[in-house]
Amino acid sequence: MRAVVLVGGFGTRLRPLTLSAPKQMLPVNGVTMLERVIMNLARGGVTEAVLALGYLPEVFQEAFPSGEIAGVTMHYAVEPEPLDTGGAIGFAARAAGFTDETFIAINGDVINDLDIAELVAKHRAFGGEGTIHLTPVDDPSRFGVVPIDEEGRVEAFIEKPPAGQAPSNWINAGTYVLEPSVLDRIPPGEKVSLERAVFPAMVDDGQLYAVQEAGYWVDAGTPQSYLQVALDLINGVQANEPAVAADSVVDDEAVVENSIIGSGAIIDRGAVVRDSMIQRGARIGADAVVIASIVGPNALVGNGARLSDLTVVGDSITVGANTEYSGAKIPETD
Ligand code: GDD
Ligand code: MG
Repeated sequence: MRAVVLVGGFGTRLRPLTLSAPKQMLPVNGVTMLERVIMNLARGGVTEAVLALGYLPEVFQEAFPSGEIAGVTMHYAVEPEPLDTGGAIGFAARAAGFTDETFIAINGDVINDLDIAELVAKHRAFGGEGTIHLTPVDDPSRFGVVPIDEEGRVEAFIEKPPAGQAPSNWINAGTYVLEPSVLDRIPPGEKVSLERAVFPAMVDDGQLYAVQEAGYWVDAGTPQSYLQVALDLINGVQANEPAVAADSVVDDEAVVENSIIGSGAIIDRGAVVRDSMIQRGARIGADAVVIASIVGPNALVGNGARLSDLTVVGDSITVGANTEYSGAKIPETD
């Protein structure tokens, strides 16, 4: 089986971390989001994949020069300009020659344990042009909402409905099985939204099906969900124990709870780090306090500074001593 992996977005909601690295190259406990996605594709029988690249494509190519991830042969397709989700699938599938058999398309920022081989089997049984994996969420307003009938046929595809107006709590979980005929719905070189144009047209033609599957699922595209997926992983392993890389240095008089401390990071005396992610090479100064926040690679949090409520510190940024931030992006981005 082949797969198109969408990784070309700007990662706006995860700035400033995504100013230097695309979202899917951010680490989730030492392993990039992209590798986690590819590992699950491999488990589901995918042997060949193309990355639909747009933003910072060279970061991917430099990280995986061998052209192989988790045993999956990788192709790279760089869009001349952002073509949106549908346009990107069309561009990448054509560039890799994935135009003659059933293929998977997947959002590269989704961490889950979906059985992809089973989704493919259900798609074949439905016999439509496309089958979507659905997952239940509390607030569907930041997702594509997908009501289905008893047979699994999609009744409507409503991308990001206004809060309180969604007809269902089951949302598009970002993994699709598609027939090559879907590519005929995507004119080459044009900007096309899969969710706002291609899927609604397939619904009108009765060609779109969906499978409700409520396993572990997170779209790691916001500071809150990115931090959550990392903490979920360590808590699945060892409840409330911090995951500390072997070569990081935590002072005996520092407190680290329910947090990820990356390779080479330093936590100085009297510092408190709780429910947070401290990325590789970062330093948390003496008596600084970091709660429910993300400190980017090689950043320096000055002595006595206080960060809380999903504050995000960018790559190599210095946070002044004794400063205080809550829910901030440092530096501020638009
Ligand atoms: N190559 C390329 N080009 N990739 C893109 C482009 C583009 O122009 N625009 C977005 N992407 C990639 C992103 O990098 C991401 O991996 C994926 O497409 C989805 O984009 P997001 O920006 O993360 O979309 P979203 O999270 O708001 O919504 C999507 O995912 C939800 C589930 O996580 C939609 O598919 C929703 O319907 C869905 O519920
Ligand atoms: Mg997303």
